Amino acid sequence: GCLESLIVVSNRQPYRHEYEDGEGDEGSIVVDEPAGGLTAGLDPVVREANGTWIAWGDGDADFAVTDDDGCVAVPPDEESYTLHRIELSEEAVDSYYYGFSNQVLWPLCHEFPDLIDDGDAWANDFEWYRTVNERFADAVAEHATAESVVWIQDYHFGLAPRLIRRQIPEAATIAHFWHIPWPTPETFAECPADEELLVGLLGNDLLGFHVDRYARLFMECVEQYLDGAVVDHDRWLVDYDGGTTRLATAAMGVDADTYDETAREVEGTDALLERFGVSPEVTLGLGVDRLDYSKGIPERLAALERFFERNPDRRGEFTFLQKATPSRTGIPAYERLGELVRSEVTRINSRFGTDDWQPIVYTEEYVSREHLCGLYRRADAMVISPLLDGMNLVAQEFVASSVDEDGVLVLSEHTGAHERLGADAVTIDPTDTDAFAAALETALEMPASERRRRMRNMREDVFGADLEAWMDSQFAAIGRLHCSSGSDD
Ligand code: G6P
Repeated sequence: GCLESLIVVSNRQPYRHEYEDGEGDEGSIVVDEPAGGLTAGLDPVVREANGTWIAWGDGDADFAVTDDDGCVAVPPDEESYTLHRIELSEEAVDSYYYGFSNQVLWPLCHEFPDLIDDGDAWANDFEWYRTVNERFADAVAEHATAESVVWIQDYHFGLAPRLIRRQIPEAATIAHFWHIPWPTPETFAECPADEELLVGLLGNDLLGFHVDRYARLFMECVEQYLDGAVVDHDRWLVDYDGGTTRLATAAMGVDADTYDETAREVEGTDALLERFGVSPEVTLGLGVDRLDYSKGIPERLAALERFFERNPDRRGEFTFLQKATPSRTGIPAYERLGELVRSEVTRINSRFGTDDWQPIVYTEEYVSREHLCGLYRRADAMVISPLLDGMNLVAQEFVASSVDEDGVLVLSEHTGAHERLGADAVTIDPTDTDAFAAALETALEMPASERRRRMRNMREDVFGADLEAWMDSQFAAIGRLHCSSGSDD
């Protein structure tokens, strides 16, 4: 078919090579497989297409196994496609990844303007962001032909589309999926590189978002901040500099069948809960997040504290297990968040806890996928409270794993997932502590029949629009552009 020459671009790589015994190049090399989510979902697609995947090589043995161009055939045991690794210096990582990507674009798009690095550092960070985008674009150009479809992932590559466009044949198609929210024009004004970013993204033939709102905000920003661009709000097209970018929305899904199967195979969670110091008898609340300020974890803790104030009978009976995965450590806002969360948990536990019961059990430990599915299945209430989240796949993982159809999802209205599951979840505004505490009460008091009805509806949605369906819809949209524009099928 006409999608056979597929080139995927993402910051994270599908396979990472590491020295087994840490330091040094004497030891044997082991391969980390994709852990889940998009990377694991895309891997079979790139395999089948015998395509190319371009990503940052962040493993310490990554370049011991590549050829001189940074390429290695993967998967290691069944070589099917080319992984082209980009080697980044420490300085490049500091500025491109920790700097512009995660201290400018991430807070900007999640509407945390106060966390945007607006000191002198951003200009240097942006230089590096551009340099790294150029290096990825050059790598794409090495592989691209007129038949190629280039599919770029996320906010690390805002400038790459136009840089790629300049270097590859006209007939090749460039598509991009922006996995995080798009900010309002008011917030976007805080972006120190606003115009260049829009020009970069308008190098795409297709630009995808999770929900309509983000695509609309993107069009508004283009209209407001980019002279010479013509926006067709009805047809979702933007003309700029002789090219046209089509906007599309497609809500990403999870590999629902795998979560379902894994959850069914779990042989109870008593031992796991005991390991965390949770009595297997408790009513269980669950939170699972990357330790990120967009996830609303302090707001969740405040609501839990209010809940225990209002419900003394729940003390000793209900425990909230919060699993947090440290992320982007080294960025001050992330360090501060970690400290705040840990100290709030300690404070709330010392306020309500007893010798044999803690209201909140907090862990940053690694939890395997099997155990995670077990916890999702066991949870009486899953609490997802971001202040803003592009989609939130944890909500869907929970639903897919809820094979007994008896858990309740408490879900922030500020997530992409809420557009899909909002009608059957218990909706919260995470900043309204009283209402949030009341929502926890609603969730825990909900009759079994209603829990089942709501969960069935949510499962229908999650299984109907899973990861594969999301990819199919992206490729269908790409195909409509690519296969009609002259290249052979
Ligand atoms: C979000 C982003 C992804 C990113 C992930 C983990 O979901 O949209 O692009 O990979 O967070 O963050 P990290 O910085 O560890 O890759």
